[in-house]
Amino acid sequence: VQVFEEISLQPYTQKLCQSFYRDYISDPQMTHQDFVYDTKWVQRYYEKKVQEKDRAFFAICRGKDIIGECQLKHIDLATLSATMSIHLQQDRYKNQGYGTKAIILLCSYAGQNMGLKTLYADAVLRNLRSQHVLEKCGFTRVKQDENLVYYMKPLV
Ligand SMILES: CC(C)(COP(=O)(O)OP(=O)(O)OC[C@H]1O[C@@H](n2cnc3c(N)ncnc32)[C@H](O)[C@@H]1OP(=O)(O)O)[C@@H](O)C(=O)NCCC(=O)NCCS
Repeated sequence: VQVFEEISLQPYTQKLCQSFYRDYISDPQMTHQDFVYDTKWVQRYYEKKVQEKDRAFFAICRGKDIIGECQLKHIDLATLSATMSIHLQQDRYKNQGYGTKAIILLCSYAGQNMGLKTLYADAVLRNLRSQHVLEKCGFTRVKQDENLVYYMKPLV
């Protein structure tokens, strides 16, 4: 039995962002480049990307510890749509249902709190786990190119 109660989405602060990247290990299903932690890089990432007007970032927390980050990007209030993305910090947090839970929480926040009607997502072709999880969360495959599979989900 998987226990989901402890997973929550929290406002993403600079402190949580530093703590996420301090112990971040990149996933070979997304990139083959190793990640090297650099406080200043994270500070710039937080100031430039996390705080962009058309994005909403969240810390994925298990209890009070950050285990992942997720975001809605390209938030478009004209079409009431956005694109979601997610990554957990390290392998030790993966395959335990946390990603699925976080995506469900993000979808309901996007629909209920932001009034969005459509979410998009994409996954690297070789990232079969991500594709499986998106499909499990109700996303439908809409197209594919040489790098990515594209998904959408209507929010109710
Ligand atoms: C993708 C990610 C967010 C999923 O979160 P997670 O907590 O690991 O996933 P869950 O435990 O909720 O679910 C994993 C599911 O994938 C399945 N799975 C695992 N490896 C798989 C593989 N190689 N191929 C297909 N399915 C796979 C599991 O069996 C499970 O499915 P089930 O519940 O039907 O049995 C997480 O693994 C992650 O951060 N990966 C690196 C970053 C990334 O890929 N981001 C996605 C960009 S859209």
